[in-house]
Amino acid sequence: MKFAVSLLSLLALVLFFSAVTCQQSCLLGKHHKASPSAETGARECVLYSESSCCYANFTEKLSHSPVIEVDNYYWNRCGNLSKECEAYLKKLECFYQCSPDADRWIHPNMSFAIVHVPICQSFCDNWFNACRSDLVCAHNWISDWIIDENGENHCKNQCIPFHQMYSNGTDLCQSAWGASFEVSSSPCRCLDFSETDRKVIKYIVDGENSEESEEKEACKPRLQTPPGDQDEAEDD
Ligand SMILES: *[C@@H]1O[C@H](CO)[C@@H](O)[C@H](O)[C@H]1NC(C)=O
Ligand SMILES: *[C@@H]1O[C@H](CO)[C@@H](O)[C@H](O)[C@H]1NC(C)=O
Ligand SMILES: *[C@@H]1O[C@H](CO)[C@@H](O)[C@H](O)[C@H]1NC(C)=O
Ligand SMILES: *[C@@H]1O[C@H](CO)[C@@H](O)[C@H](O)[C@H]1NC(C)=O
Repeated sequence: MKFAVSLLSLLALVLFFSAVTCQQSCLLGKHHKASPSAETGARECVLYSESSCCYANFTEKLSHSPVIEVDNYYWNRCGNLSKECEAYLKKLECFYQCSPDADRWIHPNMSFAIVHVPICQSFCDNWFNACRSDLVCAHNWISDWIIDENGENHCKNQCIPFHQMYSNGTDLCQSAWGASFEVSSSPCRCLDFSETDRKVIKYIVDGENSEESEEKEACKPRLQTPPGDQDEAEDD
């Protein structure tokens, strides 16, 4: 009897904790799971493998370089992107499709979309530099296309280099995905799609209530890494 009671309370405890820890869910995109879970065998987006909103098979097309097309959306309408440039696009695509935290910034009117995700200035500047000479025909990659009857995107405008399409990294980050990303004024309370995100996300969410020394500690790897290095270390 006593055993049964303790078993029951154990069960209650387990249920309580899973309710607390499983509050996260995924965006309501075409490929998103209902809730995040571990994925094995992903070849891309491995940053999110422990708790992922995308199935490993979704990442297959992203694992090749150059990426040609993902879900009828062509990445090469102005020619293949450079590997360096493409790496940044992959990080953002992985975040949107796979991150278990993306739903913290769910768009209030479109549950498949994100809005104003705080993105690091350094990420935007490095992204801009990596893509500087690559060609692009859409300023807003969500809306500036002619979509054909098969749902495939075609250029509406001329292909021009990134450095002509966008004035700087800030412009790139805040335009290419519409209002999805917003450059943060803090070098810590922002995402750069590296391992550090997991540590700093708490401080982004807690905002002003967080302990400054702890925030600095969590953010340390980012502040110590020379720009660019972190990105290279993560690839492949
Ligand atoms: C991807 O994997 C999931 C779960 O393993 C499966 O339900 C889905 O049908 C797969 N999709 C494709 C396109 O193979
Ligand atoms: C783009 O890459 C694909 C796959 O590697 C290749 O077949 C194609 O020739 C490349 N296109 C251009 C314009 O270089
Ligand atoms: C959501 O829709 C409302 C009403 O149309 C609008 O006022 C608001 O700006 C929209 N929110 C976003 C983030 O676009
Ligand atoms: C980036 O470009 C925008 C215009 O799109 C401009 O307002 C802003 O001052 C520029 N930022 C920097 C750091 O040059």
